[in-house]
Amino acid sequence: MTRIFSGIQPTGRKHLGNYIGAIQQYVAGQDRGEAIYCIVDLHAVTVAYEPAELRRRVLDTTALLLASGVDPARCVLFRQSDVREHSELTWLLTSVTAVGELNRMHQFKSKSAAQRELVGAGILFYPVLQAADVLAYRADEVPVGEDQREHIELMRECARRYNARFVPDGGTTGLVVPEHRIPAVGARIMDLQEPTRKMSTSIGGDEGRIYVLDEPAAILKKCKRAVTDSENEIRVGPDKPGVTNLVDILAAARGTSVEAALATLADARGYGDLKVAVAEAVTDMLGPVRERYEALRADEDAIEAALAAGAAKAREIAAVTLHDVRTAMGVGPLS
Ligand code: AMP
Ligand code: TRP
Repeated sequence: MTRIFSGIQPTGRKHLGNYIGAIQQYVAGQDRGEAIYCIVDLHAVTVAYEPAELRRRVLDTTALLLASGVDPARCVLFRQSDVREHSELTWLLTSVTAVGELNRMHQFKSKSAAQRELVGAGILFYPVLQAADVLAYRADEVPVGEDQREHIELMRECARRYNARFVPDGGTTGLVVPEHRIPAVGARIMDLQEPTRKMSTSIGGDEGRIYVLDEPAAILKKCKRAVTDSENEIRVGPDKPGVTNLVDILAAARGTSVEAALATLADARGYGDLKVAVAEAVTDMLGPVRERYEALRADEDAIEAALAAGAAKAREIAAVTLHDVRTAMGVGPLS
């Protein structure tokens, strides 16, 4: 069976880009294979943060995933730091990761430039931890948004280099070279106010982002104010980033193709109608998530219990990989 792994950061409020690019795919993955999802708190310490807030955000993000339909009975859902194998494998994988590759990562360049006080080494090593997350489970597929393409390429390279160096006979103890799974529609949702830039937790203002937990009125207001162009012609293309983004959102929220979404707009009287259609589709998609969220978030003991049970299952899988890797690399006694 296909093994699916993905991770999500417990930082900030999750937005429409996260939902369409990643969370929707997590839910779908539970029907396609053996799904393993992780809240990556160790990744979150690579930038400035507040310890108490980080702990709260893990619970926020877990409750949001549960409200979205990620179901611990049908997947493994856990907190990254609960499974220590991730940290150990990160270190071991540094032996097959080139500093030059880490230096060239777009995210490293932009995040290190944005840090005002200390540029922690964690920002450089961030992709190695991400590689360890996936490779520890020998996952076949990694559902992510477009912005993670480079990180997946790096983990593939790590796995290939590890196998060539430490498992030269190609036996079953090697690491699996994973494939990315980037959605056909909605892999890069753009900011509503600045549609040439991706919707992001850290850049831009609230008007440009729809949050998963936004009320319908806020969704409508943000859609109505979305930046378009002066043509009033509903068509997609690189010269029309604002309209293209709205049509992409419409298609992704309804679960149809862009062509099908455009066909339903044939009678639209202009951008006003498009914006209302987008707001309705997004509200239909996110409304049930918002309605379930509060009750789930309120029960912190239940969230912690679900994460602990998930971690126990995750550890069982990761421990086998770590045993193989330690053995192959000559680390620790033979066992
Ligand atoms: P993060 O919150 O940074 O952990 O991101 C969680 C997931 O959301 C990752 O798989 C990202 O690729 C995805 N993602 C983030 N921003 C966007 C966006 N604007 N459009 C589509 N997917 C996104
Ligand atoms: N770096 C990813 C992001 O910012 C989060 C992440 C951490 C991840 N580990 C992962 C994604 C493993 C996929 C697989 O979105």
